[in-house]
Amino acid sequence: MEAWCRKEFGNLSAAYKAGVKAPRPIAFEKNILVMEFVGEGRAPAPTLNDVGLEGLEDPDEVFWEIIRNVERAYALAGLVHADLSEFNILLHSGDIRIIDWGSAVRRGHPKAEEFLARDLSNIFRFFGLGLDGAEAAGLIAERARRPYEEDEEGWLVVDGKRLYELL
Ligand SMILES: Nc1ncnc2c1ncn2[C@@H]1O[C@H](COP(=O)(O)OP(=O)(O)OP(=O)(O)O)[C@@H](O)[C@H]1O
Ligand SMILES: [Mg+2]
Repeated sequence: MEAWCRKEFGNLSAAYKAGVKAPRPIAFEKNILVMEFVGEGRAPAPTLNDVGLEGLEDPDEVFWEIIRNVERAYALAGLVHADLSEFNILLHSGDIRIIDWGSAVRRGHPKAEEFLARDLSNIFRFFGLGLDGAEAAGLIAERARRPYEEDEEGWLVVDGKRLYELL
């Protein structure tokens, strides 16, 4: 459907422009979305689900990279992915690419924080962490209302703190 494709392209573009690790958008025409191919030769990069927690060389690093990008999408692109899970994250030479932005909603959407909580819960569950998605979503939403700086790793610094110091 053309409208859906346009929406996904718009979301992907906004995320990419905000420095979120997503495939580079190229174009859309009718119901075809063209973006950077993430993979090796003709083989698409595996999803986080394909690799599995046991298959990760450094699960901690991947986890925090996802969290950093979720906050970036929310604070800088004003977007909640809303379908985030191990199925929509590709792993490419140790790095992540978040795909499938068609369901994303703007920060002002009435369910934005609920969707953000669900996205985060999915990630916490995959990594076997007992963290509370709703609490983390509240924290991200609260931080996004305040002035921020960026450090050299692309973490947002709000009131002198990075998200990983607060979760
Ligand atoms: N930019 C990309 N580069 C390489 N492979 C990709 C890219 N985008 C998507 N894929 C591949 O296509 C699959 C489905 O993509 P995506 O999640 O965006 O679509 P979907 O409509 O949700 O389909 P599905 O129901 O299979 O998840 C991914 O799991 C991945 O294997
Ligand atoms: Mg998908």
